[in-house]
Amino acid sequence: MFDLIVKNATLTDGRTGIDIACKDGVITAVESGITADAETLIDAKGYLLSPPFVDPHFHMDATLSLGTPRVNMSGTLLEGIALWGELKPIQSVEDIVERALRYCELAIAKGIGAIRSHVDICDDELKGVRALLEVREKVRDHIDLQLVAFPQDGVLRDPTAKDNMIRALDLGVDVVGGIPHFERTMADGADSVRLLCEIAAERGLLVDLHCDESDDPLSRHIETLACETQRLGLQGRVTGSHLTSMHSMDSYYVSKLIPLMVEAGVYAIPNPAINIMLQGRHDTYPKRRGLTRVRELRDAGITVAFGSDCVMDPWYSLGKADMLDIAFMGLHVGQLSSIADMEWCFDAVTENGARIMGLDGYGLAKGCNANFVLLQAKGKTDAIRLRAHRLTVVRRGKVISTSNEVTHQLDALSGRSLNEAMST
Ligand code: FE2
Repeated sequence: MFDLIVKNATLTDGRTGIDIACKDGVITAVESGITADAETLIDAKGYLLSPPFVDPHFHMDATLSLGTPRVNMSGTLLEGIALWGELKPIQSVEDIVERALRYCELAIAKGIGAIRSHVDICDDELKGVRALLEVREKVRDHIDLQLVAFPQDGVLRDPTAKDNMIRALDLGVDVVGGIPHFERTMADGADSVRLLCEIAAERGLLVDLHCDESDDPLSRHIETLACETQRLGLQGRVTGSHLTSMHSMDSYYVSKLIPLMVEAGVYAIPNPAINIMLQGRHDTYPKRRGLTRVRELRDAGITVAFGSDCVMDPWYSLGKADMLDIAFMGLHVGQLSSIADMEWCFDAVTENGARIMGLDGYGLAKGCNANFVLLQAKGKTDAIRLRAHRLTVVRRGKVISTSNEVTHQLDALSGRSLNEAMST
């Protein structure tokens, strides 16, 4: 007797007609024609069963705060940071917890199973840290929440940020963050990268820096990050988030930089919706896209995952916790339109983020955690095209969210999958 069986699913690797059986929170069988009984039986009707969506870059301390105390009029990153500075002193721990939990409800319904959230430590009361540590515990049975100690105002530029970083890590924040391009000078930025990587090395922690979130082609802190990763033996534990300056860099320099990143085993997390919205704001025309070189990084063998970054906060007024929206945006801005590229965009909001976050037991193989989402789509490309409806979300073998099939959607493909249509 199993706890839960899903019948007749299409898997993300393309296999069809697959049944998945779960017991004690773990996947115990993945095969066709399972006939055993289960307490819960789900008929997948041939729809796509995926491991949960993963959002590897988010700001849960700021989410759903849109309009408080005002909105971002210029649409720039820097006005967003200034606006966040106005909000910080007037929000309470309780406000942050309430908003974060409300966001987690949205995320669960959209099939997100893991979130890496940066939390601003440039606040001597550490309100965001205290709030999100509480939220991490509260949502543990529904979402894996990994926290990054993020010195929004610069670990060197802000007078108490370094002490607050240590206090936050002592309280149990998981990952070391930073923002070298916001330090006062390029030299300070490089010093901050060294300092932060040394803190992580001493404590055995992961690193995830907001790195070169700028249109300045000379913002090259990723070079220092790759170098420090190697010097300190942090290969496979370090992420450069955003990396938007790579969009504007000289291509000859990039031909040296990407191999350095490969050598160092550094990961990359672009945030397509936010990058296309915030970058290029000082350009007239032509206007830069501001998304990093996703295809080139991926083709060099670097693990690249897409993050959502912001939902209804000082930087971004839109968003609905939907990682398929993010894949859709990344696909367009990165011009990733072949079948293989579109399928990769789905991986960029699922398994690639799981690898970067170091999630144990992620996937749909026997022995993995029984965490998955059933999508009303026939495959990964259809899922992105439709931003497919999430029919059932399962966590540790238990159904935690359901919704009915959408019946009003016009079937533009006469019953075929998008892959089938593109192959004929
Ligand atoms: Fe961010």
